[in-house]
Amino acid sequence: MSDTATSPRTSGCPVAHGPLSSERTPTGCPVSQRAAGFDPFEDGYQQDPPEYVRWAREQEPIFFSPKLGYWVLTRYEDIKAVFRDNITFSPSIALEKITPTGEEANAVLASYGFALNRTLVNEDEPAHMPRRRALMDPFTPEALKHHEPMVRELAREYVDRFIDDGRADLVDQMLWEIPLTVALHFLGVPEEDMDTLRKYSIAHTVNTWGRPRPEEQVAVAHAVGNFWQYAGKVLDKMRQDPDAPGWMQYGIRKQMQHPEVVTDSYLHSMMMAGIVAAHETTANATANAVKLLLQHPQVWRELCEDPGLIPNAVEECLRHNGSVAAWRRMVTKDTQVGGVDLPAGSRLLIVTSSANHDEGHFSDADLFDIRRDNASDHLTFGYGSHQCMGKNLARMEMQIFLEEFTRRLPHMRLSEQRFTYVPNTSFRGPEHLWAEWDPATNPERANPGLRDVRVPVRIGEPSAQSIARPVVVQGVTPVADGIVRLRLASPDGKPLPRWTAGAHIDVECGTPELSRQYSLCGDPDDTGAFEVAVLHEPDGRGGSAWVHANVKEGDRLRIRGPRNHFRLDESLKKAIFIAGGIGITPVSAMARRAKALGMDYELHYSGRSRASMAFVDELAALHGERLHVHAADEGRRNDLRALLAQPVQGAQVYACGPLRMLEALEDCCAAWPEGALRVEHFESTLATLDPSKEHAFEVELKDSGLVLTVPPDQTLLTALRAANVDVQSDCEEGLCGSCEVRVLSGKVDHRDVVLTRVEREANTKMMSCCSRACEGRLVLEL
Ligand code: HEM
Ligand code: FES
Repeated sequence: MSDTATSPRTSGCPVAHGPLSSERTPTGCPVSQRAAGFDPFEDGYQQDPPEYVRWAREQEPIFFSPKLGYWVLTRYEDIKAVFRDNITFSPSIALEKITPTGEEANAVLASYGFALNRTLVNEDEPAHMPRRRALMDPFTPEALKHHEPMVRELAREYVDRFIDDGRADLVDQMLWEIPLTVALHFLGVPEEDMDTLRKYSIAHTVNTWGRPRPEEQVAVAHAVGNFWQYAGKVLDKMRQDPDAPGWMQYGIRKQMQHPEVVTDSYLHSMMMAGIVAAHETTANATANAVKLLLQHPQVWRELCEDPGLIPNAVEECLRHNGSVAAWRRMVTKDTQVGGVDLPAGSRLLIVTSSANHDEGHFSDADLFDIRRDNASDHLTFGYGSHQCMGKNLARMEMQIFLEEFTRRLPHMRLSEQRFTYVPNTSFRGPEHLWAEWDPATNPERANPGLRDVRVPVRIGEPSAQSIARPVVVQGVTPVADGIVRLRLASPDGKPLPRWTAGAHIDVECGTPELSRQYSLCGDPDDTGAFEVAVLHEPDGRGGSAWVHANVKEGDRLRIRGPRNHFRLDESLKKAIFIAGGIGITPVSAMARRAKALGMDYELHYSGRSRASMAFVDELAALHGERLHVHAADEGRRNDLRALLAQPVQGAQVYACGPLRMLEALEDCCAAWPEGALRVEHFESTLATLDPSKEHAFEVELKDSGLVLTVPPDQTLLTALRAANVDVQSDCEEGLCGSCEVRVLSGKVDHRDVVLTRVEREANTKMMSCCSRACEGRLVLEL
């Protein structure tokens, strides 16, 4: 760790001063006034970093801060670009002290032989990746499972201590200590040394990232020096028993095989830095999360009612109010980011918390929405080859804490208080978090068994499948032979999320495992309810049979979405809508929208018989002559070939219906321009994995610096998750598009039904849940 300051300093501007510019300061300095005023040690930044730099995110996303001597980056794409390239943007300054120490303190540190050096987070290539790869295994979801009972037990014991008091400072009484204990266990510190290390590390972490007053610095230096020496002793002890469990012992064993990769200096430094990396980040993240949730009582209630939402709520809390507000990189060669020249030697403060509020990546970014489907795109864990190795341990701890609180203290609320933060650029969480409740109404007084309930945690990134919302069935109306329309409203009468024509929702048919997609067929302007139409398919997979047998007015159902993979291009001159049978549902919403937009369109609707076709009268009333009904029993089959014989300039064909019809349409549209036909699928057989017919393939992950082998019996998605790489997913059948990853090179064997032929041939993206490599290696932007 170097002692270079990142505290305010009056450095000269790093860019040439041009002529006086009215947009800049009156002195002609190219640093704007707001940039000149930027001070991350101010209360404004401490209280709310993304809000403090909103002006920059919106108007001057990359600026130089003369007070800090750093370039400050505030937008998602720019920051991700920096994380992607750890050669041009070196992480070597990541752990520099926030406040430089004076000579006296430095002398004290030297007297302890203090030599904290590069670990992982601040190590450059080529040393970093071989070390990271060598030390990764104990962090994979598979390995982390073993720690779950320990974390759970700690959470339960700490809550036992204060649950009958009716009030607690959750930071002091729980959230500060448990992550430290977990960190010590994870590292493999022997029980008898835990208390001493706990004491030292608290002294160290509290002070490293803050601004100790000059008179405190010497005392801090002694604590840090002692910590350093003690860490060395514990490491020596671990060397005596290298087969004991623990990440440090794992490192010691790896050192025996690769002494040049896992060096002595690394091990000693990591023994100290590892505790800090794992402790304060997680403690602060949980304190921020609990605070945020209790500040939104309605959300807190929903979480208490449906703990299945906890994994995604953790991600949304990390996005909205994470514990690492900003991170640092150093520019190693002249370069540009977002059109701004950054000379070699520039220091960058990358405000990840601002990226997490960037409207360009997160819609309605300031809204706290625990059902947000891209919440885990946040950059609080960094990204790329240095991305936090401990992210899944942190996620597990946070899930367990929230699960314990929602189950045992659902009636908890925030006490009146003013939150304080240790002033620093990066690590952020309230120093105290007072909460209160009425112990007489503790649920476990009535139901003692509650204390010991165990809800399984999800290790790794949350699945979209867990992001459900409750709805009440307002009506069940037959609309044709074997078809019912369900009207679904929010239980509290609040508006439902907005949707666009072509969108669908997933309805849980009795259990989360049996979820079925149904297109929304009502009016998007009616935010009071969702409408879907369900055809009874006795030979289907069971979803529609369940709906027809069970669902009645007043029931509660769980749904996910809405999501739209079948969007109407609203700039079209002409649209031809083709629906077969129950495929009318998304198409009817699209035709309604086309009419509202004043578009030229026609709607072709075919079915076995009029009696089996839903909404015919409504459609006729709305669309008049634009509607063409083709009922087979009336001898009016839809002649698709004739209909589509001539491509229509600027027109698009949208179709939904039986697989046979969609395949025939592909054929009929052969003469149409690429991409003119858009179809909606609800099932796919392409994605089924038959290991006897597959071959293994390699994927190189460009951003993470990893090469993985995907065996014949595994999907790419499973292999990525096993290696701690986050990828979202939902259907896992190649239908929904949520697991898309970018392909940089290699030939993909596409198995999804999401991409168009043009997109497949372009070979720039693939669905990781089902698609594979044709041969050889794929290079992915991950
Ligand atoms: C790296 C955040 C918990 C171990 C990082 C980085 C960040 C971060 C921002 C740097 C990423 C980059 O440069 O791209 C967090 C947050 C946590 C957390 C917000 C809690 C909510 C943990 C835990 C552990 C851990 C529990 C260990 C058990 C590490 C390690 C690295 C790292 C070893 C260095 C990885 C490398 O450079 O290759 N973390 N962390 N972290 N974190 Fe975490
Ligand atoms: Fe739906 Fe892969 S998860 S396409």
